[in-house]
Amino acid sequence: MHFFEYKNGQLHCEGIPIYQIEEKVGTPFYLYSYNTLVRHFTVFNNAFEGIPHLVCYSAKANSNLALIRLFINLGGGVDVVSGGELYRAIKGGADPKKIVFSGVGKRGDEIEYALKAEILMFNVESSQELQAINEVAGRIGKKAPISIRVNPDIDAKTHPYISTGLKQNKFGIDILRAPLAYRMATQLPNLKVVGIDCHLGSQIIEAEPFMEGLRKLKSLVEDLRNEGMEIQYLDLGGGLGITYEDEEPPHPVEYASTILEEIKGFGCTLILEPGRVIVGNAGILVSRVLYTKENEEKRFVIVDAGMNDLVRPSYYGSYHHILPVNEEKREEIVADVVGPLCESSDFLAKGRRIPRLEPGELIAVMSAGAYGFSMSTNYNSRPRVAEVLVRDDQMFVIREREDYEDLVRGENIPDFLTRP
Ligand SMILES: Cc1ncc(COP(=O)(O)O)c(C=O)c1O
Repeated sequence: MHFFEYKNGQLHCEGIPIYQIEEKVGTPFYLYSYNTLVRHFTVFNNAFEGIPHLVCYSAKANSNLALIRLFINLGGGVDVVSGGELYRAIKGGADPKKIVFSGVGKRGDEIEYALKAEILMFNVESSQELQAINEVAGRIGKKAPISIRVNPDIDAKTHPYISTGLKQNKFGIDILRAPLAYRMATQLPNLKVVGIDCHLGSQIIEAEPFMEGLRKLKSLVEDLRNEGMEIQYLDLGGGLGITYEDEEPPHPVEYASTILEEIKGFGCTLILEPGRVIVGNAGILVSRVLYTKENEEKRFVIVDAGMNDLVRPSYYGSYHHILPVNEEKREEIVADVVGPLCESSDFLAKGRRIPRLEPGELIAVMSAGAYGFSMSTNYNSRPRVAEVLVRDDQMFVIREREDYEDLVRGENIPDFLTRP
């Protein structure tokens, strides 16, 4: 469900025609609908109303400060995976006691930053990381709250690059070895065991892997409790998928109700780390058609947004609907929609049936709110694009378009290279 719709033949975001936004910010730009974001977060959060829970929005999906703030205002916490995301969460106004820190390679300085900020817990992914956190905590006189990210060896049936809960993935501690890691944690003087965690992957479109993960975690928690450990938090991670093309993932209410049934009365606060399901369909990428060309085999529509702006199609082969901003009826063609970068993998759609597009017109690349801007780069020295938030009939530039100066900020030419 989202608020991008045609009205009078023009695609709108809430109450504003998209061409009017383009007149102010140029192309390409990311565009987010405030009311869609609020609705997605609220529906997800309310679905778990029956039990103690905390929804920690996964900042990696879209880490713009305005979006982080929006979810904080709705009572959310934040799931971070780097010092930079922790900085954003704090700058966005997050209560540190609602921040969880995941990630397989936390550096000492990041651990120290999180300890000083007094976050809710570290989701720890190896025995060596337990030791590292213990060491840093001891050095600065803190006790570190930890949970162990368990790898339950479950096939989430998603793209291999976004599957994380299988033995062959680098994430978490093998569930069979997890009890050993927990025992080790209880022996380390500067750690406090508070929870258990898993994250199975992303764009998961069936409820069953989540249920299987939850059952495995519960059984481990029971064993740990029998050994006298107190497990207050059970973090089930994120991963619920969305409809990009024709996928039919469980509705958040359906997803929540199966989880609720399984966890009610278990004595843990449930933590969830949704990203994509909250922001994915609440954002689009708007681009301009530059040129069209064809040969005997193919037609190409060349647009001004490319793989550096939205990498998902070339990286994961993922699908995004492409709509003309002007709905005007025209014949359909089959074409590759490609960007301006010097890579053959630079495409937004391949062999796609689309209305015949003309140079100069605007297109909307749908479902681009998650892992769109946050995965964008400056490749080919392309400034990163602007981000705009629309609420009813008001627009807000929540990130300025970068300029050429931004591209070279921090770079230096050593003197010896400029001396004659
Ligand atoms: C640890 C962790 N939590 C949460 C998420 C968010 O996943 P999604 O955006 O699929 O909800 C991810 C992303 O892969 C993750 O690695």
